[in-house]
Amino acid sequence: MRKTIVTLSVALTVVAGSVAASDADLRAKAKSAGLEVIPHSLPAVADNPVTREKIELGQMLFFDPRLSASGVISCNTCHNLATGGDDNLPTSVGHGWQMGPRNSPTVLNAVFNKAQFWDGRAEDLKAQAKGPIQAGVEMANQPEMVVITLKSMPEYVERFGRAFPGEADPVSFDNMAKAIEAFEVTLITPASPFDQWLEGNDPALTDDQKKGLALFIDKGCTACHSGVNLGGQDYFPFGLIKRPGADILPPEDKGRFQVTQTATDEYVFRAAPLRNIALTAPYFHSGQIWDLKQAVAVMGIAQLGSEMSDEEAGLIAGFLEGLTGEQPRVEYPVLPVETADTPKPRL
Ligand code: HEC
Ligand code: HEC
Repeated sequence: MRKTIVTLSVALTVVAGSVAASDADLRAKAKSAGLEVIPHSLPAVADNPVTREKIELGQMLFFDPRLSASGVISCNTCHNLATGGDDNLPTSVGHGWQMGPRNSPTVLNAVFNKAQFWDGRAEDLKAQAKGPIQAGVEMANQPEMVVITLKSMPEYVERFGRAFPGEADPVSFDNMAKAIEAFEVTLITPASPFDQWLEGNDPALTDDQKKGLALFIDKGCTACHSGVNLGGQDYFPFGLIKRPGADILPPEDKGRFQVTQTATDEYVFRAAPLRNIALTAPYFHSGQIWDLKQAVAVMGIAQLGSEMSDEEAGLIAGFLEGLTGEQPRVEYPVLPVETADTPKPRL
């Protein structure tokens, strides 16, 4: 392993003429380590055919603060599409200014994760979308109130009818979640420098980023961070080799143990997806690390037992910056106007 890194970086820095050949080698190595390009077309989701009508409705719902009890908080509050699909806070602030227990992960490319949340407790995006609306520390609403709210606005009734044609009662909590899922399917970020490079465009990554990629593979990061999202596929103990301190891994959040009640799942979390990671500080489920290079160093020690040099951590962080893709262009929707029947805000 170590020998490969040395040979590779020598090839990249010293023998300029052989850069093309080493690009091809590195690309083959990246592919066999399981790294994949973001598809250019929209992915399909289970039991929910994605239509134009559903996407438009889901976009409105994503931005509509009236899904929350207070009328203040929308999905976009904590998953701001102008700032990488997250809120850039250590842990999210929700209903009544309450601080939640975990950092908000990005909604960008979430469709490629095998399951949703840091502990994977929601199997897909439509199951996920029902959670925050009901969570007391997030939007603090009830499904029945959401349906009353939506039914009070004729434009929503009409749009649900068009998005779910032929259904007797289209304005439902389940259909709200399906429409939001359809919108989230569109939130993908193709054509990052890394994707362009993986597709054969050698200069899309800098030489330093290529060194960072080689280290990312050789150090073993790809054992957990691979696939389209460089993560989001499987669960591992945070602290596989050495458990981080209580600031980074607060003892009260036992991760997947809360889902499975299995002792071996204590402090197990989903390997975080790394796309657009440069946009979504602070890092880890506790949101305590603001610097990407430092997050990389923490991973080296905690997951691989490898004390990295500052230079190595910097090169890997530089590669991770090459995972920032084209951000979705989302038009801020004009929302249906409320009526006398719309429930009043409960602050
Ligand atoms: C108050 C802040 C807040 C609001 C409002 C909120 N979320 Fe979240 N969201 C979070 C946090 C925090 C998590 C991680 C929670 C966990 O893992 O336990 C999360 C997780 C997610 C995930 C999982 C992403 C992944 O990588 O696993 C998706 C998708 C998501 N939210 C979508 C939504 C949608 C859709 C709405 C609106 C219906 C919404 N969120 C409202 C804070 C919020
Ligand atoms: C044994 C599996 C494993 C290995 C190996 C591993 N990671 Fe992770 N990684 C995880 C898990 C699990 C998390 C989620 C930690 C948490 O709960 O906060 C994570 C989180 C991260 C995060 C924070 C993501 C975010 O959104 O906050 C970064 C950055 C990261 N890893 C980079 C790396 C790098 C770079 C390497 C190689 C040096 C690496 N990881 C090796 C499993 C692993």
